[in-house]
Order: sequence, then structure tokens, then C-alpha cells
Amino acid sequence: MRLLHLLPLLCLVVCAVDARKGVRGRRIRSQDRSNGIKRFAADCKESWINGEKYFDCQERQLTSVLLGWPEDIHHLLLARNRIQVLRDNTFSHFQNLKSLDLQQNEISRIEEGAFNGLSKLTTLLLQHNHLKVASEGILIPMPQLKYLRLHDNPWRCDCQLDSLIRFIQVPSNRNIGNYARCAEPRDFSGRQLKKMDAELLCSPVQIPTPDDKQTPASQKKSDVISLCHSYIHPVLRLDCRNRDLKTVPADIPLDIVRLDLSKNNIKKLRQGEFTSIKDLKLLNLSGNSLESIDTAAFTGLLYLGELDLSNNSLRYFQYGVLEDLYFLKRLSLGDNPWICDYNIHYLIYWLKHHPDVSHTGLVCSEPEEFRGWPVENYVKTYNAECPKDKQLGQRPGTEPAGNTPLELTAEIDEEEVVSDLGPRPYRGPKKYEIIRLS
Ligand SMILES: *[C@@H]1O[C@H](CO)[C@@H](O)[C@H](O)[C@H]1NC(C)=O
Ligand SMILES: *[C@@H]1O[C@H](CO)[C@@H](O)[C@H](O)[C@H]1NC(C)=O
Repeated sequence: MRLLHLLPLLCLVVCAVDARKGVRGRRIRSQDRSNGIKRFAADCKESWINGEKYFDCQERQLTSVLLGWPEDIHHLLLARNRIQVLRDNTFSHFQNLKSLDLQQNEISRIEEGAFNGLSKLTTLLLQHNHLKVASEGILIPMPQLKYLRLHDNPWRCDCQLDSLIRFIQVPSNRNIGNYARCAEPRDFSGRQLKKMDAELLCSPVQIPTPDDKQTPASQKKSDVISLCHSYIHPVLRLDCRNRDLKTVPADIPLDIVRLDLSKNNIKKLRQGEFTSIKDLKLLNLSGNSLESIDTAAFTGLLYLGELDLSNNSLRYFQYGVLEDLYFLKRLSLGDNPWICDYNIHYLIYWLKHHPDVSHTGLVCSEPEEFRGWPVENYVKTYNAECPKDKQLGQRPGTEPAGNTPLELTAEIDEEEVVSDLGPRPYRGPKKYEIIRLS
């Protein structure tokens, strides 16, 4: 039934193709009578278009390249056949070949020298085949190659594919291997070859053991992958829980999406600690001994959605710490000795201007008179007691050296901040709009 429905459509397509061929055919004949369409074994068609020879053997049930085909072909069309293996030197007669279309075959193996002699080839189409492995070596005979299609093959992303993946990832190879994805191992399934962290291919991914063995942490910076557990599914996640880390490891893979550094011994977050981990969405620093966070510690974490800072030794945030976190949604702050004095105002001010951010655990632990108060309540009390004009005047004893009252700072800094650092997320939308370039 379905086939019957398709027939008219099929006819349309075929007729259209035939019509096109007809046009070409006429032009070819008028241009070059001696080279009119010739028939070859397997009923392939040879034709000239704009001075280039096309050899069309598509959809011919071919299992191999046949002997006797003309050698001066520029474009060889072998799509939709049944070729399974490309043997050494299969194409070495076709030294003029510029494009080779092998899509929609059943190719599962390409011998290292299969493309020998194709020094002029610019386009190679291998999509929709059965390839699991291939090495960069097969591409070496084709220095002119610009377009290589590899998608819809069941690539097995392990050490054997390492050289090919690295080649694909060379920045100048813009049209090589785009859209190709790993099918295996399961942990890498669906990941683009172009974007794979090639480092993961040849280093065994640690399989999580049921009871986390608590490896004593060596502080060697180079072995975060062996020290931490990496998981690839459903998102790239690095679990460095409970590893006695004293600093944030330096060599965290750049495409990590969730990073768990909880239950370690990190006291400080330094400037630019996470700068290059741009895809990070969750950062868990719970259960460390964090006392200080550099104002630029979270630089670059544009997409961070959740930040867990609970169970640390934080007393306040320095002015500016949160400014890079444009997309933060959840902020866990519980079990920290928050001190309810002037320094805490920045945090409240930021939260007030980010109503989308839900936060938990912001409770005063000192001074004693405010212990157990939600920090917001303390700030409200402070503001009620100290009207703005009073704040703008000097309150010497109460201000940390070098600081002006927060609201004042905010007013004054407005222009400078805009010109120096670009728009910041917490500023009032009435004054100017934040435009994000995507
Ligand atoms: C962070 O880690 C702690 C301890 O490992 C855990 O209890 C908490 O749920 C984690 N937080 C998030 C947001 O995943
Ligand atoms: C806080 O962190 C410490 C040290 O990692 C841990 O022993 C403790 O269970 C944590 N407390 C809570 C409430 O998570």
C-alpha cells in the first residue's frame, strides 16, 4: 500500500532527474560528440560537464570497483552500492579524481592504502556506511582533501580512533568529519568526533566502583583524571569528592559540565580558577574549608546554574565575587559562619538584584545578637536603623578600611563599571539594558 502511495512521488523524482540528464546529455553531445554517453560494465554512465568527466555508477549493486573503467575520471559516483571493504590501491588508477562519492554503501573496513594515488582528491563522501574504525593514515595520500563526510557511521571512539579524531579537530580542517558521532562505547555514545576530548580516548575512563575507594590524594596536578572519577553520561561529569584536595586541580578537562569537588580540603579559591571550563553548569564545593574566594575566582563561568558552597568557613563575600555568574539559578550557602556586619551587604544586594536565584542557608552566626537570624532580616534592620543619608555620611568605626558604603559605591561605580568592564548583571535594568551577544 505504502509503496503505491510513493509511486507518483518516485516518478516525479526520477522524471526530474531524467530531465536534467537529458539537458546535460544534449549539451554534451553538441559540445563533444565523440564523448557522448558511453555505457560500461555495470551500466555506469560516463559524461562530461564543464570539462570534467563524471562516472556515474550509483545504485548498481556493486560490491567493488570494476576493472576497465576509464582512468581519466574527475568525479566518481558510487553511492548506494554494496561495497563492504575498500582494499589497498582500489582507486590508484584514477589519478585525476577530484571527488569520490561512496555514501550509502556497506563499508566497514578501509585498508590503509585504499586511497593511494588520489593526490588531487578534494571531496570524499563516506557518510551512511558501517565504519567503526579508521586511522588518519588512510587520509595521507590525499593532501588536497577539503571535504570529508563521515557522519552516520557507527564510530567506536577508543584509542584506535585517536589519530583520526585529532586530525578532524585540527582547526583548519573545517569541513572534515563534521557531524560524525561516536556510537560506542556507550559512555561516549552520541558525542561528536569534532568535539570529543581526545585525551579521553586512550586513557581508560574509570568505572565507578560501588564503594568509592578513597584514594589518598597525591597533589600532583597532572592526574586529576586518575584521581577523580569521570562519567560521560548523560553529561560530562567529574567526581572529585573526598580526595583530600587542597586546591582546585589545574587540569580539569575543559568540557566538564558538572564538577564535584565536595568534601575536600580547599581553603581558597584563587583568581581564574575555573576560567577555561566554560561549559560548567554545576559546581559543588560543599564540605571544604573555604575561607576566601578571590573576586575573580568564578570568572568565565557564564553558564553556571548551580553553585554549592554549603558547609564551609565563609564569613562574607568580597565585593564582586558573583558578578560573572549570569545564569546562576541556585546557590547553597548553608553551614557557613556568616558574619552579619557590613561586609555581608554585597551578598544581599546581589541576591536582591537577582530574584531568579534561589538561595539557601544564609543565616547569621555572628555577632551573637544576630545569631540564627536570616541574613536578609539583619540587613533590613540595619537599613531601618540607618537611613540612607546617614549611611552616606561617615560611620567611621563600622566600615572596613578602604570601603565606602555599598549603596554609595554602587551609585558611584555605575559609569566606571560600564566603561571598564562592560555591563554587569546586577545593575538596575532602568539605567541600561544588558545585551548578550550569542
Ligand atoms: C554537593 O556535595 C554534597 C556532599 O557530597 C552533597 O550532599 C550535595 O547534595 C551536593 N550538592 C549538589 C547541589 O549536588
Ligand atoms: C560538612 O563537611 C564535613 C567535612 O567534609 C563533613 O564531615 C560533614 O559531614 C559535613 N556536614 C554536613 C552537614 O554536610
